Amino acid sequence: MTVNSVKLCYRNKTILAPMVRIGSLPMRLLALDLGADIVYSEELIDIKMLQCKRVVNEVLNTIDFVAPNERIIFRTCERERDHVVFQMGTADAERALAAAKFVENDVAGIDINMGCPKKFSIQGGMGAALLSNPDKIEMILSTLVKGICKPVTCKIRILPSLKDTLDLVKRIEKTGIAAIAIHGRKEEERPQHPVHCDVIKAIAEAISIPVIANGGSHDYIKEYSDIEAFRQATAASSVMVARAAMWNPSIFRKEGLQPLEKVMKEYIKYAVRFDNHYINTKYCLCQMLREQLESPLGKKLHAAQSSQNIWREYPAQITPKMCLLEWCHKEKLPQPVYETVQRPSNGLFCSVVTVAEQKYKSSMWDKSKKLAEQAAAIVCLRTLGLPTGELSEGKDQYLQKRKWEGPGFLNGREAENGLSEGAPHKRLHARSL
Ligand code: FNR
Repeated sequence: MTVNSVKLCYRNKTILAPMVRIGSLPMRLLALDLGADIVYSEELIDIKMLQCKRVVNEVLNTIDFVAPNERIIFRTCERERDHVVFQMGTADAERALAAAKFVENDVAGIDINMGCPKKFSIQGGMGAALLSNPDKIEMILSTLVKGICKPVTCKIRILPSLKDTLDLVKRIEKTGIAAIAIHGRKEEERPQHPVHCDVIKAIAEAISIPVIANGGSHDYIKEYSDIEAFRQATAASSVMVARAAMWNPSIFRKEGLQPLEKVMKEYIKYAVRFDNHYINTKYCLCQMLREQLESPLGKKLHAAQSSQNIWREYPAQITPKMCLLEWCHKEKLPQPVYETVQRPSNGLFCSVVTVAEQKYKSSMWDKSKKLAEQAAAIVCLRTLGLPTGELSEGKDQYLQKRKWEGPGFLNGREAENGLSEGAPHKRLHARSL
C-alpha cells in the first residue's frame, strides 16, 4: 500500500464542504476566519482545469487558473494554501493526475467527487457514476496517491446496501488515500431526506483512515455544538458542513452564530477584495438571506445589477472603481460608464470610463475586462486628483498587500508571460481623452 505524504490532518476537523457556486475564494476565506479548519473548493472538472493557464495575479495577490475565454475557473491565495482542498470531477485516472499535478503546489490536498448525482456528472462517468465502477475508483485514487505529494481524499455517497458500502470503502482505503468523506445519503436521496448516521458510523468502525461525516445540515447542525454531536452520532473523525455553512458560515464559530448581517458584510469585503463575480456574490448572499429575501435588504439585493449595487449597502472603500463611484454619488454626477473593447488578435481588454462627459482610458491592455475597468478608473481618479483607494494606510493585511500600482498595474512577470503589453514607461501614464 502506498501511503501519501500527509501534511494535512483530517482528524478532529471542522470542514467546509465542496459546494458549486458557493465555495469560491470569498466563502472559503470567511469560513477559515470563522473557525473552519479545512475548506474544500467547489467541484471543478479535470478537462476544464487542463485548458487553463496558471496566472500569478500580483494585483489581487492570488493564483488564478484562467480558461481560454479569460474566465477564472479557480482562484486561490496564500492565506488558504495549507487549508484548501481542491475538489475535482473526473472519470479518468491519467487526466485526473495531470490536473492534480497542475494545481497541487497551490493547494493542501486533492479530493475526487464521487457523490454528485447530477445528470452532467453521471453522463460523463463522473460523480456518483463512479460508485458503480470500483475498478475505476481504484485506478483514479491509486494513480493520484502515487503521482502527487499532497494528500488525496474522495467524497462518496452510501450505496443501497450496507455490505456493498463497506466493501467499497475497504477497497478505497487500500488505495492509500488520506481520508474519506461520506455523504450519508444514497444517490437517489435528496437533501431533505434523513441522513443515515448509522451507515456512516458502521463505515467509521470498519476502516482506519479518518472518516469525514457529511449530510447533517438539515437534521442535526443548527449551531457549532451540533457539529460535535453529529461527529459523535457518526463516530467519525471529522465533520464536513455544506448547507448550514452556506446559510450562515459562522456555524464554524466556537463562540456561536453571528448575526447574518455581520457575516454578509464580511463576505462582501472578501468578494470585493478578490474581485468575485457579482452574480456569484449575489447568489451566495441570497442563500444566506433565504427567508428574508422579501425583506427590504433582500429586495435591494435582488435588484442589484453589479457589485457596486451590492457594496453600496455595505460601504467600505476598496477598489478604484468603488472610489470613483462613491465620488460620483457625492458630486451628484451620473454613475461612471465603462466601455470595454477586446482586441481580437490577443484577447486583451481596454476600457474607457466616462465621467461628467469626459472620457478616461489607460494606455495599457489588460488580461480581463475587470482589470481594464479598474485601470480606467485609476486613470480617471488620478487625473481628477482623487484618491484611488490605495490602502497602504489600512490595517488589514489583505488591504495592505493590494497593488493598485497604476493604470497598467500588471507587473513585469505578467508582461513576460504575455499577459500585458505596452512599453513599461507607459504603465503609469494617465490621460483623459
Ligand atoms: C453541494 N454538494 C456538493 N458536493 C460535492 O461533492 N461537490 C460539489 O461541488 C457540491 N456542490 C454543492 C452545491 C450546493 C449549493 C449544495 C447545497 C451542495 C453537496 C454537499 O457538499 C453536501 O454533500 C450535501 O449538501 C450534504 O451536506 P449538508 O448540506 O447536509 O451539510
